[in-house]
Amino acid sequence: MNKPAAIILAAGQGTRMKSSLPKVVHSVCGVPMVEWVRRALVEAGVERIVVVVGHGADHVRAVLGDSVEYAVQSEQLGTAHAVRSAEPVLKDWYGPVMVLAGDVPMLSTETISSILKIHEGDSAALTLATCTLDDPSGYGRILRNESGAIIGNREHKDCSPEQLNIKEINPAVYCFSGPKLFELLPQVKNNNAQGEYYLPDLIEMVANQGGKISSFTSNDPDEFRGINDRWQLSQAGQIVRDRILQQHAQNGVTIIDPGSITIGPDVAIGQDSVIHPNTVLEGKTTIGANSEIGPNTWVKSSTVGNRCRAFMSHLDQATMEEGSRCGPFANLRPQAHLKPSTKIGNFVEIKNAAIGPNTSISHLTYIGDASIGSNTNIGAGVITCNYDGFHKFHTEIGSDCFVGSNSTLVAPVKIEDGSFVAAGSVITKGVPSGAMAIGRGRQENKEQWYTVWRAAKGSEKK
Ligand code: UD1
Ligand code: CA
Repeated sequence: MNKPAAIILAAGQGTRMKSSLPKVVHSVCGVPMVEWVRRALVEAGVERIVVVVGHGADHVRAVLGDSVEYAVQSEQLGTAHAVRSAEPVLKDWYGPVMVLAGDVPMLSTETISSILKIHEGDSAALTLATCTLDDPSGYGRILRNESGAIIGNREHKDCSPEQLNIKEINPAVYCFSGPKLFELLPQVKNNNAQGEYYLPDLIEMVANQGGKISSFTSNDPDEFRGINDRWQLSQAGQIVRDRILQQHAQNGVTIIDPGSITIGPDVAIGQDSVIHPNTVLEGKTTIGANSEIGPNTWVKSSTVGNRCRAFMSHLDQATMEEGSRCGPFANLRPQAHLKPSTKIGNFVEIKNAAIGPNTSISHLTYIGDASIGSNTNIGAGVITCNYDGFHKFHTEIGSDCFVGSNSTLVAPVKIEDGSFVAAGSVITKGVPSGAMAIGRGRQENKEQWYTVWRAAKGSEKK
């Protein structure tokens, strides 16, 4: 079998989105629409993907990077014209070429695979997806002859009143024989209601040549929904979200309130974990087994082990190892790394810091650019001063240490194993193992001072 290639049309602006960004970079469940389409194609075994860009090309390139090839359509003269701009890249491709739009995020790998299989099995010149909609308005209608063979497509705006009653539509997911596609494209005319070069005109051209046209009919019209405005984007988000949540539930994850939970497609969750309401898990996130996440928690591209608990917290590129806990209101920023059984409490921010096993940081603390050993206790309000306005510096705290409340650790500084920092200290020098460091003003008591002062104030009153 000749390997398949694909062309994704993504040069349009998507005016109805009312956005400064091109339509296809808007996300469904945290993944841009055009990336959903790319993934479905790759999973179906499509070998080369050419994305036709025009409006907002840089944004599309920023999303897809070098995972695809690009063709530029500088003027949007219609879908056939868009495909022609990919000709320089694919003209020598002898295999099948799928053509589809970048705004169909729900299109499944299975459907693409079925289309490719039918195309191959029938040695077709063109294989089309079609589907039947109760309300076909806006779509191109599929034209068939008396024997049921497909003979063309009519765009909504070009339909006769009878043709408007046709409910079988063109979802614009095509598979062409590569050479046939590039042979016919230059012959497409733009004498139609919109004055555009229509790709679906190729259907009639293939039929007129006596070429074989096969079709794949789907019963799930959701799959082919093209997203044109923000409300359709929201609806697609809901459909995709439900599918993902259902998958996790079937794998043994408890989803407490599906309506308030969003989980991206690249998230893995172990058995018997519980996801509480108002929680978003996105990016490449892994949650182990028997863990509880949420409520009100946002986790992005993080790794959480077994038996962990993240409660009303925010994790971004963080790691929580087995049995560790954070929250409420913990902020684990990139490269925060909690070793097993650490305890991170409320209003604690951790960035680029490894926290050793059984260490506890329970309240109101900032730990940045640091490493902390095991079994250490960090008191309330401890701050690592990691930044002098120009550079970042490292703080090292050993194992079995006690850092008293409201201490300020001015980096670079090292607090060695088994040492003690007195509450309220400003630490600017290393603390040797076994020592107590105290760095604060000495307390002075002025006997009777307040009694005298209060009496004086009292007599002032009247
Ligand atoms: C198209 C089909 C229609 C089908 C419908 C399904 C045509 C003429 N019509 O209509 O039969 O029912 O899809 O959703 O193809 N694009 C470009 N360059 C252009 C024009 C369009 O890249 O010059 C891209 C758009 O960004 C979009 C896609 O092609 O992603 C579809 O174009 P659009 O004009 O929206 O076609 P539809 O009206 O949806
Ligand atoms: Ca259009």
